[in-house]
Amino acid sequence: MTTKPSVLRNLPADLDAQRLPNHVAVIMDGNGRWAKGRGMPRFMGHRRGVDTLKELLRCCKDWGIQALTAYAFSTENWGRPLTEVDFLMTLFERILRRELQEMVSEGVQIHFVGDLSALPASLREEIERAVMATRQNQRIQFIVATNYGGRDEILQACRAIATQVKQGHLQPEQITQTLFEQHLYTAGIGDPDLLIRTSGEMRISNFLLWQMAYTELYVTDTLWPEFDRSEFHRALYDYQQRHRRFGRI
Ligand code: FPP
Repeated sequence: MTTKPSVLRNLPADLDAQRLPNHVAVIMDGNGRWAKGRGMPRFMGHRRGVDTLKELLRCCKDWGIQALTAYAFSTENWGRPLTEVDFLMTLFERILRRELQEMVSEGVQIHFVGDLSALPASLREEIERAVMATRQNQRIQFIVATNYGGRDEILQACRAIATQVKQGHLQPEQITQTLFEQHLYTAGIGDPDLLIRTSGEMRISNFLLWQMAYTELYVTDTLWPEFDRSEFHRALYDYQQRHRRFGRI
């Protein structure tokens, strides 16, 4: 549970504070293209992408949004050139080390979702340190999807549940949506209300497949490094024009 600040800092006047999404998820696409367009190596785009993410987290906190999930590394991203994979792993580790104190003091509670066992040991240590140090924070939940794949997540939940059935601890009739959700990486975290994808791609890309059943989708052509507060404002404004029916009329 997170606590809403009593005063929302700088919430644009045309946004309704009562109808903001509780949970925003982002697919941060276009870092490589942004760098290439400026004659720079791809890694410069990822570096710049971190600044964008940091600013978005701050903005969510200021505007009273309770959770932000970022797709940092998918199970498919291991297929990128080794130098890029290495760069990203080192970058994640450095960010965690560099930003931890600020996250602690700003009330950010960090979570990681994905198969962390495949990550370098030094990164896993930083992750554990960050999760432990921020676990009491209540201002905003920041969920980082790392070595995350929606299909993998569903399969590992199935395996865990099947094992309980096999051992006689659970009857098949007891497998409900609530029980299933308790076996996902995101157990205890609400579903996203709004997914933002940058760089114009109209795909889900194996992200939060179960959790996004009723998530509103927003795609912008803007590349991730250029997704700033005014772009986020536009996405929230668009979201507030929608009528969420959850399958009803
Ligand atoms: C997609 O752009 C971006 C990524 C795969 C990495 C994004 C990661 C960060 C911004 C760092 C977040 C880190 C933490 C620890 C919170 P792309 O490379 O697919 O761009 P392209 O589509 O233009 O090639």
